[in-house]
Amino acid sequence: MTNTTHKTPEINLRSDTETKPTPAMREAIFHAVVGDDMVGEDPTTNRLEAMVAEMCGMEAAVFAPSGTMTNQLAVKVHCQPGDELYIEEHGHIANYEAGGPALLSGVTCKHVKGSFGMLDVEELEKAWRPPSIHFPTPRLLCLENTTNIGGGKAYPLDQYLRVCEWGRNRGLKLHLDGARVFNAVVARGYTLRDICDPLDSISICLSKGLGCPVGSILVGNKEDMQKARRFRKVFGGAMRQVGILAAAAIYALENHIDRLADDHKLAKVLAQGLATVPGLKINVDDVETNIIFFEVDPAVGSATDFVAQMSKHGLHFYAMGRQRIRALTHLDVNATQIQQALEIVRRETPHIRQNQSSTSASY
Ligand SMILES: Cc1ncc(COP(=O)(O)O)c(C=O)c1O
Repeated sequence: MTNTTHKTPEINLRSDTETKPTPAMREAIFHAVVGDDMVGEDPTTNRLEAMVAEMCGMEAAVFAPSGTMTNQLAVKVHCQPGDELYIEEHGHIANYEAGGPALLSGVTCKHVKGSFGMLDVEELEKAWRPPSIHFPTPRLLCLENTTNIGGGKAYPLDQYLRVCEWGRNRGLKLHLDGARVFNAVVARGYTLRDICDPLDSISICLSKGLGCPVGSILVGNKEDMQKARRFRKVFGGAMRQVGILAAAAIYALENHIDRLADDHKLAKVLAQGLATVPGLKINVDDVETNIIFFEVDPAVGSATDFVAQMSKHGLHFYAMGRQRIRALTHLDVNATQIQQALEIVRRETPHIRQNQSSTSASY
């Protein structure tokens, strides 16, 4: 039988979620010992959960299909209907999880002004609504590290700890959306345990920078993780012989953390190159990890025009607003491809307007 694959783009800068498992990861998947995880009998998943709990310095962990699910499990575990969670205004949990807090947990989100997706105590204090008969019950504080829409920023440790302390003093539970927490750890040089110490729970994605095809893990205390396991079943996320995915995750945790520094370096190179292209605007100093945002001048075209033009040449980005474009570096892009990407952008940016008018002329 022929192994038919979709046409793969030559250079995919759309997201670190789109990486393919490496041959060595596929080998680990091939050799995975499996059992029925629904009844706790998948040895590889059990090993993964124990390994991640240990790495975090927490009691227990639950493996789930996606970061959205592990975040929403945390909201469900910590909150009751009528409760409110505090989150930075661009936070993934509140904006990109399809209304999950309201739909699944009856929870409202209090959006707090931040900077690059990160919270600080001054803005939290302004947003704070004390417990009152008029307000939803404040219950949970959600942080994101690194930030996605904030542009891949990693919290400085002191700011992070101050925010956590504020939440604790206000009687809130603390959850971290650590979809890309290893990018933060590698970029800032703090440890995963530094980050987990103040938390009640953390969600860590395996299918982003770490390069797994599927999977995310929720970590916390035993009692909360037991509840999360039950809700995972309710949400339809309890899996069976899922050790094949856990094996990929173990492989990634053993082999793909330190290399995130390469992604960060390439993101800087890409940003420096884009900064020299007339018609594009980017602040290179804002680039800290593997996520970069840049803008295209309206005189050149829209973000959608830019993305469409580059796409024709096998270079893929996401338009994230009228003029705003996002690029991510990851396991499946190397230094040569970043140079090729820059050549394509330099060559094709002046043609965007021209192509746009020729398409509209064909209406
Ligand atoms: C910060 C952050 N949290 C959570 C998620 C959700 O992960 P998933 O796509 O696995 O549901 C994403 C996805 O991009 C993300 O960027």
